Parts: sequence; C-alpha cells; structure tokens
Amino acid sequence: MLTVALSKGRLIEPTIEFLSRAGIRIPPDITSSRRLLSPDESGRYQFLLVKPMDLPTYVEYGVAAAGICGQDVLLEVTPDVHQPLDLGFGSCRLVLAGRKRNSVRNHNLLYTTRVATKFPRVTENFFRARGLPVEVVHLSGSVELAPSLGLAETIVDLVETGRTLRENGLEILEVIAESTARLVVNRAGFHMQQAEVRGFLDTLGRALR
Ligand code: PRP
Repeated sequence: MLTVALSKGRLIEPTIEFLSRAGIRIPPDITSSRRLLSPDESGRYQFLLVKPMDLPTYVEYGVAAAGICGQDVLLEVTPDVHQPLDLGFGSCRLVLAGRKRNSVRNHNLLYTTRVATKFPRVTENFFRARGLPVEVVHLSGSVELAPSLGLAETIVDLVETGRTLRENGLEILEVIAESTARLVVNRAGFHMQQAEVRGFLDTLGRALR
C-alpha cells in the first residue's frame, strides 16, 4: 500500500478531482473526517491530509512515499525529494504586493522595509538578490491585512484570482514565481517501493495526457 500525502486548503478540491480523473477514488469524507489516514476503495493507496507547508517534510522523512503540493511550498521549504510531475492544476502566482503607487523600484536603499509573508525564505532570497535590506514579518495567514494596519509596507503572498489583493487596496508590484501543483516522491521510496511508485506515476501521467 502506498501512502500519499495531500495538501489541505485551496489545493484539496482540485487534487481530489485530478485523482478521480486518474481513476483513484478518495474517500468522500476525507475533508470532514478526523481520521489521519484514509485508504482508497482499491486498497492500493492510503491518504494523509496535512497542512501544505508540512507536506514536503512528511515526504522527505518517508512518512508518506509521495505527495501533492504547490510549487510555492517547494520554493519555501526546499525539501530533498524527487519532483517528477507538474500536475498543471492549482495555478497561482507568488508576488510582492503593496498599496497602490508603492514601488520597490523607488526604494531608498538605506531604509529597511518590512515585508509580511507566509514565505520568509522566498522573501529573504528575493530581497537579498536585489541587495535590499528587509525585515521579514512571518505570519501564517491573512497577510493582506498587514499593509493597511501598518505592520508592513509590502507583502509576499499567493495570488490566484486577485480578489483578496483588490479588496484590500493592494496591487502586484512584482511577480516572484508561478506555481502549480507538483507530485513529490521520497528519494528512498522511489527505490524501495519501486513497483508501487512507478504504478502511481504511470496512473497520474495517463490522467495528465
Ligand atoms: C491564499 C493567499 C491569498 C489568497 C489569494 O490564502 O494567501 O490570501 O489565497 O487568493 P485570490 O487571489 O483568489 O483572492 P488562503 O485562502 O490559503 O488563506 P490564508 O490567508 O488564511 O492562508
């Protein structure tokens, strides 16, 4: 039996749809149940539902042989895992955003800007690459509130439809990365459960075609 980790939150619905297209039926109560592990109908897989930022850790440490998470999470966590498939769904952008008319290009180099984000590593790398000093305020949600409350001048966050930015008077200043859902696979599991992992990859690959 192959243990597969799935991301809670915005990716869970498209992930269930995609797996169902691949012929893998996830138990319908997976999001409402308190069970940690849910086997599928065939008995070939069991699914683990975890927080998106934790998913790569479960796969890297072999608790799950494989998992589905956003590229945004992989950029932040940088786990040591195989990333064999771009699954194409869950498309969004990781952006630097701020209040209208604010621009990093006019940034005073002696001034340390505060940036609120759920992605501290990506944010630090982004500003370091530009040689700009930055203080990263690490939040775990509702990041768009930070500029209007004076917690930070800008934010680094995900944008899908753009609605959350618009409704909070923010605009995109720069796109940092594009993101889609990725399949990740534990490196040792790739060899130790070769037949099961290959079978899973083929099943998902067919659904992509
Ligand atoms: C994500 C992201 C934005 C929002 C963007 O948050 O962090 O807040 O979705 O979507 P939009 O462009 O379609 O408006 P999420 O729903 O994961 O909640 P969170 O802020 O509590 O993390």
